[in-house]
Amino acid sequence: MGREAIVMQTQEQVSARIRAVEADAAARAAETGAPETHPRRDYPPYRSTELRHPTHELVRVDPEEIERLSPAFGHSDVDPLESDLTIQHAGEPLGERITVGGRVLDGEGRPVRGQLVELWQANSSGRYVHKRDQHPAPLDPNFTGVGRAITGDDGSYLFRTIKPGPYPWRNHRNAWRPAHIHFSLFGDQFTQRLVTQMYFPGDPLFALDPIYQSITDQGARDRLIGRYDHESSVSEFSLGYRWDIVLTGARATWLEPEDADE
Ligand SMILES: [Fe+2]
Repeated sequence: MGREAIVMQTQEQVSARIRAVEADAAARAAETGAPETHPRRDYPPYRSTELRHPTHELVRVDPEEIERLSPAFGHSDVDPLESDLTIQHAGEPLGERITVGGRVLDGEGRPVRGQLVELWQANSSGRYVHKRDQHPAPLDPNFTGVGRAITGDDGSYLFRTIKPGPYPWRNHRNAWRPAHIHFSLFGDQFTQRLVTQMYFPGDPLFALDPIYQSITDQGARDRLIGRYDHESSVSEFSLGYRWDIVLTGARATWLEPEDADE
């Protein structure tokens, strides 16, 4: 089927489907007393999930011993400069300079130390350095949009970057993603690798975005939003955001399935 043959839904149709799932989730939560903090694998408003969600029970595989013990990232493997996305090229990238920092914690609030945090994002115009991103917004020759850091002894991480712009995608007609930064995290085992997105406070696109809305519990949604932190802002230089990531437990940050890519 050619692209032209796909009939795009309107935002109104997608929003109606979002509300239908939300109502169903609320009814079930009232019944069971447990809100759904993870999105459903088959979530029709996010079109790709209809095509890609598992249709069979997952196959449980006992991990190899090495996967239980790793990853162990030596400090020499990740250069501290890799956490600054504004110094990877000859010139300064365009856009609003920000820092994003916080702590990676386990379900008991203990710091997850010495672990790899990876980040990738669009530039300030909402454009990725990726051949499949044909959004007609300018690439920035001074911005690639990828970074890495190792958490400190207190579980802390800190990136300096540029605030990403919102961008269009082909989920439905006139579909736009709220500004977001993709994160990948390892716990203390390869089998715990987790991927999620951080958003920015007050984004007008939250209510319209099927990925953000695929989490039906408002508390779980809120945990994906970085907090503006004036103490982290640097005078005449950058604005600061704080975002703590909880890997397990009742207050866990929502983590997306491995096949999501938008
Ligand atoms: Fe994205």
